Amino acid sequence: MSDNTTPEVRKGLYGVIADYTAVSKVMPETNSLTYRGYAVQDLVAECSFEEVFYLLWNGELPNEEQLAEFNRRGRSYRKLDAGLIALIHSLPLDCHPMDVMRTAVSYMGTKDPEHFTPDVDHITHVGHNLLAQLPMVLAMDIRRRQGLDIIAPDPDKSVAHNLLSMVFGNGPDSPASHPDDVRDFEKSLILYAEHSFNASTFTGRVITSTRSDVYSAITGAIGALKGPLHGGANEFVMHTMLEIDDPEKAADWVNNALDNKDLIMGFGHRVYKRGDSRVPSMEASFRDLAERHDGAKWVAMYENMRDAMDARTGIKPNLDFPAGPAYHLLGFPVDFFTPLFVVARIAGWTAHIVEQYSDNSLIRPLSAYNGPEQRRVTPLAAR
Ligand code: SDX
Repeated sequence: MSDNTTPEVRKGLYGVIADYTAVSKVMPETNSLTYRGYAVQDLVAECSFEEVFYLLWNGELPNEEQLAEFNRRGRSYRKLDAGLIALIHSLPLDCHPMDVMRTAVSYMGTKDPEHFTPDVDHITHVGHNLLAQLPMVLAMDIRRRQGLDIIAPDPDKSVAHNLLSMVFGNGPDSPASHPDDVRDFEKSLILYAEHSFNASTFTGRVITSTRSDVYSAITGAIGALKGPLHGGANEFVMHTMLEIDDPEKAADWVNNALDNKDLIMGFGHRVYKRGDSRVPSMEASFRDLAERHDGAKWVAMYENMRDAMDARTGIKPNLDFPAGPAYHLLGFPVDFFTPLFVVARIAGWTAHIVEQYSDNSLIRPLSAYNGPEQRRVTPLAAR
């Protein structure tokens, strides 16, 4: 193709503004982030995950009555279909837990006769269902892999508290029995809840733009989130830290990886180039957890890796860097860190699906062709 016909191609849609959104605003110039106009740090300090979920869906924070109704409705969905339980138990014990989450959502779509009704009421119904049931799927999957019985959900507990109870039980050593652990975990869910047109949300919006159904959009979003360049990074952060094991070796490990041109998970971001707005809040929770759970080693690992990366490249940690060791300190198996991200991001995904449906235009970009010139087909026998 000659130079004067070369179109401008933005690989990876780098810097392309694809649409408007009123759900959240990412401001890399000031390292800040708002959900529906509220600074995420204020939401972390003041609100429950459920209040934030309500905000993302409705555009306003709930009053006490609205929150009570939201909780009453959401908690009434905490019951898994017998077919789904059997399906989860039939899946290989060594498959990735994100595959279980993806399969569960896909299955839920097959059981919903209304799934092709793209209106706000239906999407809200599905959102409640996913918020109630995906933590149950996640907890069941952890426990079945450990040969443990399922723990029933508690209709009186918040999403964060209930999830910890269903995974770890309610004994004295369970994080569910320690309000500070529950709150630190809940803060991570708030920070993971939404982030504008990230790859998984955009995937959900692309699927929605064809007027496909919500389950398909969320199933696709889970597939996009699984990748290590996106949500899968929180698992790789902890795998890396466990592999390094000794904080004194962290700087050498980082420099060696950079010499080999390897990517170091938990660092860098497509939009934030001077640091991720969510890291200070998540780091504070990670440090809290480390104090209570004998985690000085992981704090030293965190600091040494961060400092070595900064000294060599100036590249800053993203949310996954403190979230990985925080989830480790809570006791979650590493392979379940990205499914926890799913539970939180249902909020943002469903809010964006509503927004996409409400003012839809099929998402279909152009491509610049760089294959062979047009040519004739040689018959099979002559090739
Ligand atoms: C999430 O988009 C969102 O909002 C996502 C998210 C959300 O909440 O939805 O915030 C969640 O996905 C966080 C990101 C998690 N991923 C990782 O931690 C994986 C490691 N990070 C990198 O792969 C990378 O930083 C990305 C994928 C996150 C961003 O990639 P870009 O935008 O394509 O990176 P870039 O072009 O700005 O990179 C510039 C340079 C490159 O080197 P050169 O080619 O110029 O020599 O920086 C290098 C990159 O190779 N670089 C890294 C690096 N990140 C960037 N080098 C080593 N390790 C890294 N982590």
